[in-house]
Amino acid sequence: MTVNNNARRVALIGTGFVGSSYAFALMNQGIVNELILIDLNEEKAKGDVLDLNHGKAFTNNPTLIKYGTYKDCANVDLVVICAGANQKPGETRLDLIDKNIKIFKSIVEEVMESGFNGIFLVATNPVDILTYATWKFSGLTKERVIGSGTILDSARFRYSLGDYFDVAPKNVHAYIIGEHGDSELPVYSAAYIGSIPVESYIEQHAAYKKEDLDNLFIDVRDAAYKIIQSKGATYYGIAMGLARITKAIFTNENAILTVSALLYGEYGEENVYIGVPAVINLNGVREIMQLNLNNKEQALFRKSASILRQNLTTYFG
Ligand code: 2OP
Repeated sequence: MTVNNNARRVALIGTGFVGSSYAFALMNQGIVNELILIDLNEEKAKGDVLDLNHGKAFTNNPTLIKYGTYKDCANVDLVVICAGANQKPGETRLDLIDKNIKIFKSIVEEVMESGFNGIFLVATNPVDILTYATWKFSGLTKERVIGSGTILDSARFRYSLGDYFDVAPKNVHAYIIGEHGDSELPVYSAAYIGSIPVESYIEQHAAYKKEDLDNLFIDVRDAAYKIIQSKGATYYGIAMGLARITKAIFTNENAILTVSALLYGEYGEENVYIGVPAVINLNGVREIMQLNLNNKEQALFRKSASILRQNLTTYFG
């Protein structure tokens, strides 16, 4: 079954900073026809519905936004989960597993009880673990359960490379893969400025140094810590990343985005959700793109997958 791209109905679970920013991004971009907001805090969700509807006169699209309950998931094409605890300063994403896995069990069970039969998109951290949990708890096929993975990290990477080389981030083609977290890695062997490999671009310009690339990645990897330290949470970037995935689904775009997807032999890994470039369309994940990683990148990816798998083993055996 494919989702209904004429209906374009989304249920958003969790209207905290990330969820409400995602709703705002959807509304501004006119990506969906109907958006149902669900939150344990009914008042907050209802407040968001009103607030967003008050902006309707300023948009050119007819997004229908309303408050709902899990039962409403029966009639939507996409359920996006942003609910759960978020990192406090000093906490890692993996520190949130215990709290959030319990929350996810009840959320996903309630969604499935409604008769939902569409695609799940998960944003809550640790996103790779919780996407796996959603896949397990829902019983849906792996193509229909997607995590935001390293979409934001890749966007941060493209922004930083664009800033360093003074070119538009859109013309930087580069991926961060692995855990959305401390063990992620940059794929410099397949990073391009336009269609020029980053290393060649550096050789062509005396102003740039290969050594700067390591620090550039560290800043990208640790960006969330810096933002959480300064304003308590990150939300605009991830919200725009979620909107980008939503658009790829509903426009049947076959866009290549770094999401958390279940590996089944790709990259020599199995039974783990992890950030990789994948082709996204109306069916969810159409295909995982297998980059030609060099030996160092392959080893780092393996390490990242093993960290995620260790955590999965604790909770799923
Ligand atoms: C981020 O990377 C905290 O995972 C969130 O912004």
